Amino acid sequence: MKAAVLNNVPGQLEIEDIDLGTPGPREVLVRTHTAGVCHSDLHFMEGLYPYPTPCVLGHESAGVVEAVGSSVTYLSPGDHVITCLSAFCGHCENCISGRPSICMNKNTELVRGADDAPRLSRNGEPVSQFLHLSSFAEQLLVHENTVVKIDKEMPLDRAALIGCGVTTGLGAVFRTARVEPGTSVAVIGCGGIGLSAIQGARIAGANKIIAVDMLQSKLDLAKTMGATHTVDASAVDAVAAVRELTGGVHYSFEAVGLKVTSEQAYGMLRSGGQATVIGLVPVGTKIEIEAVTLIDEKILTGSNMGSNQFRTDMPRFVDMYMQGRLNLDDMISQTVKLEQVNEAFEDLKKGNVARSVISFDS
Ligand SMILES: NC(=O)c1ccc[n+]([C@@H]2O[C@H](COP(=O)([O-])OP(=O)(O)OC[C@H]3O[C@@H](n4cnc5c(N)ncnc54)[C@H](O)[C@@H]3O)[C@@H](O)[C@H]2O)c1
Ligand SMILES: [Zn+2]
Ligand SMILES: [Zn+2]
Repeated sequence: MKAAVLNNVPGQLEIEDIDLGTPGPREVLVRTHTAGVCHSDLHFMEGLYPYPTPCVLGHESAGVVEAVGSSVTYLSPGDHVITCLSAFCGHCENCISGRPSICMNKNTELVRGADDAPRLSRNGEPVSQFLHLSSFAEQLLVHENTVVKIDKEMPLDRAALIGCGVTTGLGAVFRTARVEPGTSVAVIGCGGIGLSAIQGARIAGANKIIAVDMLQSKLDLAKTMGATHTVDASAVDAVAAVRELTGGVHYSFEAVGLKVTSEQAYGMLRSGGQATVIGLVPVGTKIEIEAVTLIDEKILTGSNMGSNQFRTDMPRFVDMYMQGRLNLDDMISQTVKLEQVNEAFEDLKKGNVARSVISFDS
């Protein structure tokens, strides 16, 4: 099958022919319909996060089940599914206490063993599977606990966005921070993740939703997604501007992946507020806060894929889209072919797009 492979870091993706195994007892073969282009892939291509190469990237997708392993009862061929990198075992302490997105057995039980044939290979040599998925490929061979079945009425290109960006942004608001109606929210970075957090804040009933970005085009889009105010961080001090609008927000979300914006997210809180860093800040980076401010009971935390319970959350997000309460149509800026994947990453770097999606539906 055709797949986009990262061979060198830093590096671009190369379209190659990759071999796929057959489903093991608890595995599923999925025909990829659409894969979203998320900034996390770019961080790995740039070497800000290490990963073994060669590797087929991509982790935000939806498709149709083609075959299931002998022990799979949850799914059948023909089912429409969204994939999620939050593979869960279902029996570790975190899974059974309602936090499957930080499953403790993610990288042991849900991958093939060292002595097993790899899921992905090239000329007989193993190829790494990216975050349990590898969506930049015509097919996915995955553990059954990385997919959720969805309504066949749901358009699969919109559904793909729910696979990472939408679930991360909405989940950070609903599950990680538990934003309450009437509160104030600031979201720094208005790409696929930040725009989803803004929509989450709107759906959760926040009163003030302040979008912060360096690009006017992103701020304009943020307004259509529910932002009540915008701050152009290329022109003004974002922390001072947000504090002036609110006296300090109840909740802030960082959706960029930088030290400076993480510190800003904390700096714009009111006493008792919570800053949630969603962005992947480069490995080795230290975030600094003034220790004395902790006396104000401010919270600084991260969010792993929106603290999702994706088998529950994703079908709910599908319903929100069907009801017209979640705008996914305007989140897709362009649809490209797999061969254009590097151009799509260039557009992401320049900030030209909310989300690009790769269509495999020919
Ligand atoms: N925690 C998770 O589970 C998780 C999941 C998915 C993505 N992420 C991370 O979330 C981050 C955002 O991803 P995305 O796909 O939305 O990226 P994106 O590139 O689409 O969006 C980033 C936005 O930040 C803006 N920006 C850049 N510098 C800024 C600054 N100094 N101040 C304000 N705005 C600034 C850009 O203009 C852009 O609009 C990335 O770091 C990604 O890796 C984390
Ligand atoms: Zn992602
Ligand atoms: Zn687990």
